[in-house]
Amino acid sequence: MYNQKLPPEQAEKISRLNAARPVKVVAVTGGKGGVGKTTVSANLAVAIAARGRDVMLVDADFGLANVDVLLGLHTRFHLGHVLRGECTLEDVIVTGPHGLQVVPAATGVKHMANLSAAEHAGIIRAFSDLYHSVDVLVIDTAAGLHDSVVTFTQTAHHVLVVVCDEPASITDAYALIKVLSREHGVQRFQILANQTRRPGEGPDLYQKIRRVCDRFLNVSLEYAGAVPFDDYLRRAVQRQAAVVEVYPSAISSVALKNLAIKADKWSVPQGARGHLEFFVERMVGAQIGPSAVLQ
Ligand SMILES: Nc1ncnc2c1ncn2[C@@H]1O[C@H](COP(=O)(O)OP(=O)(O)O)[C@@H](O)[C@H]1O
Ligand SMILES: [Mg+2]
Repeated sequence: MYNQKLPPEQAEKISRLNAARPVKVVAVTGGKGGVGKTTVSANLAVAIAARGRDVMLVDADFGLANVDVLLGLHTRFHLGHVLRGECTLEDVIVTGPHGLQVVPAATGVKHMANLSAAEHAGIIRAFSDLYHSVDVLVIDTAAGLHDSVVTFTQTAHHVLVVVCDEPASITDAYALIKVLSREHGVQRFQILANQTRRPGEGPDLYQKIRRVCDRFLNVSLEYAGAVPFDDYLRRAVQRQAAVVEVYPSAISSVALKNLAIKADKWSVPQGARGHLEFFVERMVGAQIGPSAVLQ
């Protein structure tokens, strides 16, 4: 257990805080690139933060990091620097709207084959020092079935699958659900229709996916809602800001804020999986994500 690697007072602090505050982990995924994972993650995180929660947004798309760009945040460091002892986690985290804490992706990462015990403990300690102030952790995952997608979704309490009504997106979302459920024990998924162009498209899309999943897989699906295609959202991207902030009454903003209200009500299972340091330990243990360092 990682606690054994920590000084007693640190371990005690962690168990005290553990008892007090579980963190809700939401992974945003979707199989295909360009469906809107980053847009949804960033706006969902901002909208939940606007509701008064302490939210952390982790950019886990190591290939194409863009949460910081989307939110117009300037980052100097990433987790690779923390591992090399060049800065602290506090230096890596940038603050977005409503106190949202953003952990930018490490760009140009290389998975480390052997993370040293000191680095392992260092990362966990860095997060453990912070986690008391996190209610919700939102993770923007990479496209495809990258190892990191598997780990993040396995560790999350809620897996939000972003889908568009186009064959490639539906096929990829189904493939993702199939592999995650059959090979990695992830059984519950929330389906979010994005870039919808007519009323009823969201539920129709959900039913399409549901029919094929019911037939071939043993999974539990829920409909998380629909975010309409919206030019205001694109304008917000141009302005490097969250649409929920700059165009709060745009149709996409209303939908994203409704999603935040829903997500706020999603339960957090009590027990070992409810805590940030456990989540981080899983990430580090799997030697991906923050354990990845620059070449
Ligand atoms: N609801 C929407 N309406 C209009 N444009 C959207 C919507 N959702 C996403 N987009 C646009 O689609 C593109 C891809 O979105 P992004 O969030 O980067 O996808 P992903 O992270 O899945 O690759 C971006 O240019 C974004 O502005
Ligand atoms: Mg993305």
